[in-house]
Amino acid sequence: MGFRYLYILLLCLFSQGFLRGVHGGFACNWGTRATHPLPPDIVVRLLKDNGFTKVKLFEADPGALEALGDSGIQVMLGIPNEFLAPLASTVTIAETWVAQNVSKYMSKYGVDIRYVAVGNEPFLTSYKDAFLNTTFPALQNIQAALIKAGLGRQVKVTVPLNADVYQTDSGLPSGGNFRSDIHSLLLSMMKFLSDNGGALTINIYPFLSLQADPDFPKEYAFFDKGAKPVVDGSISYTNVLDANFDTCIAALEKNGFSSLPVIVGEIGWPTDGDPNANIENAKRFNQGLVRRILAGQGSPKRSTPPDIYIFGLIDEDAKSVLPGNFERHWGVFNYDGSLKYSLDIGKGKALVPAKGVQYLARRWCIMSPSASTSDPNLVQSIDYACTYADCTSLGYGSSCGMLDPRSNASYAFNMYYQTMDQRKDACNFSSLSITTSVDPSPPSNGQNRTCQFKIMIDLSKHQKAKRPPSSVAAGLNEHSSQKFVMALLVLVLVSTLII
Ligand SMILES: *[C@@H]1O[C@H](CO)[C@@H](O)[C@H](O)[C@H]1NC(C)=O
Ligand SMILES: *[C@@H]1O[C@H](CO)[C@@H](O)[C@H](O)[C@H]1NC(C)=O
Ligand SMILES: *[C@@H]1O[C@H](CO)[C@@H](O)[C@H](O)[C@H]1NC(C)=O
Ligand SMILES: *[C@@H]1O[C@H](CO)[C@@H](O)[C@H](O)[C@H]1NC(C)=O
Ligand SMILES: *[C@@H]1O[C@H](CO)[C@@H](O)[C@H](O)[C@H]1NC(C)=O
Repeated sequence: MGFRYLYILLLCLFSQGFLRGVHGGFACNWGTRATHPLPPDIVVRLLKDNGFTKVKLFEADPGALEALGDSGIQVMLGIPNEFLAPLASTVTIAETWVAQNVSKYMSKYGVDIRYVAVGNEPFLTSYKDAFLNTTFPALQNIQAALIKAGLGRQVKVTVPLNADVYQTDSGLPSGGNFRSDIHSLLLSMMKFLSDNGGALTINIYPFLSLQADPDFPKEYAFFDKGAKPVVDGSISYTNVLDANFDTCIAALEKNGFSSLPVIVGEIGWPTDGDPNANIENAKRFNQGLVRRILAGQGSPKRSTPPDIYIFGLIDEDAKSVLPGNFERHWGVFNYDGSLKYSLDIGKGKALVPAKGVQYLARRWCIMSPSASTSDPNLVQSIDYACTYADCTSLGYGSSCGMLDPRSNASYAFNMYYQTMDQRKDACNFSSLSITTSVDPSPPSNGQNRTCQFKIMIDLSKHQKAKRPPSSVAAGLNEHSSQKFVMALLVLVLVSTLII
């Protein structure tokens, strides 16, 4: 009996999920809509350092996938809605997609892809049925393509749906059912997911509930049991997550899918861009969430804890602000992987920031002291800067919303200057601006909303420092050494049995 056989046996055990769940770990969304994305290898290190064992990507970003290779982190790989129509049209397109975006990364880089998430909230009412005809056929074609690629057992399909696909007439979770306009479509999809060992993924946003309804009982958004319970039969609900999740479970039970696995695909709280979006609320929400995850707590209707993907890992300064300015501030970490607030992540550990981030020079662009705030070019210059750079922290109730007009202009000029990589001509607002090496950030006034004048990540330095491709194979990491230790254990076991 050779080592090779043992090794293969072990690989099988691992791929079957043997030993899975022993350490649990956290899951999160890694979005990459940023002008200066944090380099993927730094993100992967950040994930590992903070106990994240699962990550969800919104698209098959090559840099992210390569960096996740051999990391031991399980991946849910998303497919953007724009891809649904072509994927629905023929199974060959789905086969190409799977070959190029799934099989390749699994076999060549050792990426542990567990789920393909087909579409992203495709039935959102604001999309006006645009993806109604293509989501299910795309799901079927991707499933067929995965089977054809020999990945049917390893990689499962799911569809991330916005929580507005189910409703409750009674106002209580037990009254949950699927939205009437897409009821039969959803049932066909649930049956398909069920038949193929897939899962339903739902996104739940207590922050948006609070946002949408000023009368919403705020305490109910959090987990510290401060809210007046909503009594539903024998169950008392004290937070939106449980109530919302169980409304979905009720909808599934009512339609014969009581054992379909449900994943929470997005949940979180933003820190800026809205009066309710601040460090205090975000910390309170995420700490409560993390405690539940650590405790392995399920919902009243389903005691098995679901996988919960926190949204999101880092801020994204190029996301659309259509839903609101808070859209660019969902990160548990800042855009550069630095800490926004501390969280207790269990076993006495706290969050740790990203390591090895390279920044541009300590230089800022500000409004020139000799320029006047009544200069006729000022408003237009600020508008220009804020069209190309992220000024969402300047709004009402946001971290830089209290600045005087001069600092307000400086903030806008600096964001533009940093976004343009501190180019010389990027601090040239018709003689209204100058550069400075003195940090213009206003002093923290003891409140939790401190306005920070950023310095951007230096992408060119990271580009130069990029590791040679050969280091991928050389990356003997924790995961491989774990397998090795297991191999030894089994060897000892087997030899004991033989002798
Ligand atoms: C995935 O595969 C398709 C080929 O079907 C390719 O066109 C696409 O660029 C790939 N990458 C992403 C990010 O989807
Ligand atoms: C979906 O299909 C229906 C019925 O065939 C059709 O009326 C509708 O226009 C289609 N929707 C889209 C967005 O293509
Ligand atoms: C800061 O600039 C923005 C963008 O021009 C503007 O909307 C806002 O009113 C300004 N605030 C102050 C206090 O000048
Ligand atoms: C600043 O702008 C003016 C005119 O818009 C231009 O003549 C000048 O060269 C620019 N300066 C730099 C440093 O780009
Ligand atoms: C800042 O946050 C802490 C807890 O995170 C809270 O106790 C304190 O009241 C907050 N201060 C302000 C001014 O919001």
